[in-house]
Amino acid sequence: MVKIGVLTGGGDAPGLNAAVRAIVYKAADYGIEVIGIKRGWAGLVEADTEPLSATTVEEITSEGGIILYTSRTNPVKMTDGIQKCMENMKKLGLDALIAIGGDDTLGVAQKLHEAGAPVVGIPKTIDNDLSTTDYSIGFHTAVSIATEAIDRLHTTAKAHRRVLIVEVMGRYTGWIALYAGIAAGAHLILIPEIPFDLQKVYELLKKRKAEGKVYSIIVIAEGAKPTEESSLIVKSMQKDQFGHVQLGGIGQVLENLIQKETGLETRSVVLGHLQRGGVPSAFDRFLATRLGTEAVELVKQQKWGWIPVLKGTEIVPVQFKEVVAERKVVTPELYEMAKTFFK
Ligand code: F6P
Repeated sequence: MVKIGVLTGGGDAPGLNAAVRAIVYKAADYGIEVIGIKRGWAGLVEADTEPLSATTVEEITSEGGIILYTSRTNPVKMTDGIQKCMENMKKLGLDALIAIGGDDTLGVAQKLHEAGAPVVGIPKTIDNDLSTTDYSIGFHTAVSIATEAIDRLHTTAKAHRRVLIVEVMGRYTGWIALYAGIAAGAHLILIPEIPFDLQKVYELLKKRKAEGKVYSIIVIAEGAKPTEESSLIVKSMQKDQFGHVQLGGIGQVLENLIQKETGLETRSVVLGHLQRGGVPSAFDRFLATRLGTEAVELVKQQKWGWIPVLKGTEIVPVQFKEVVAERKVVTPELYEMAKTFFK
């Protein structure tokens, strides 16, 4: 009997469980057994697994998080890490591996593939920064959560006639900020792709006040920075195993500056991990299900090194290297459109 291992690496993303369920169900149709590899690549390095069956995954579609757990463990940074993964795949009797992840996890999957392992992938990240796919698992839910939060912040900002800054996730891209900011009618959206001019921020806020607009909402992506700042604002310089520092704090920095420079009463809120928690949206569950079933098809066709992605309304296979080659960033055209509403 053919046997597949499935793992999820990097930050969790709402919809991951729906992908795992889809893999197990589709595999069963082909008489393929599926085992879960726990805690991402850490589980493959340590051969830490659990059996999966239609019964264990039947009710998980609506669950956030991921039943297999996840981690930011990078076998490439370990002595013989890739070798250990290869050996454990053999030891566990795996004929294929499905790696669900963002650029970091898929980068490791690509290394394993280059070393000769039978691997396919599935794109997930709330940041939506994977190229070739229109959306990745988790983004839609994160945007919905951020939108609802910003909707709520409008009313309290207005009641107190304040400036309210909402810091959202997204790492080096502004997809969550842009989508949620537009959806929730923010008065200004600041993203990493386009460093912002602080003077223009102050001018906009003063202009709004002069026009009788009693409050303002600014949505800022955690990776955004002013033009005069050479480095990102970080919560911690300590790097994870993929070399990422912990971003966070730009909202607070901006709050202090705005208060000092404009005299406007200002507060900042960091949405943080709320954006990744809880029930996945119907869109994410549906996307994850399509990607999960398609990944099993790729295994069936032995298309190693390939990954299903969403292009328009179709799920199509592309190669890992295309997905991890470059980061998908917000285009100047999209940001121009957003600027229509910075008033
Ligand atoms: O990549 C997803 C993400 O949520 C980013 O938006 C964020 O910068 C990072 O993960 C946070 O990572 P952690 O969960 O390790 O704090």
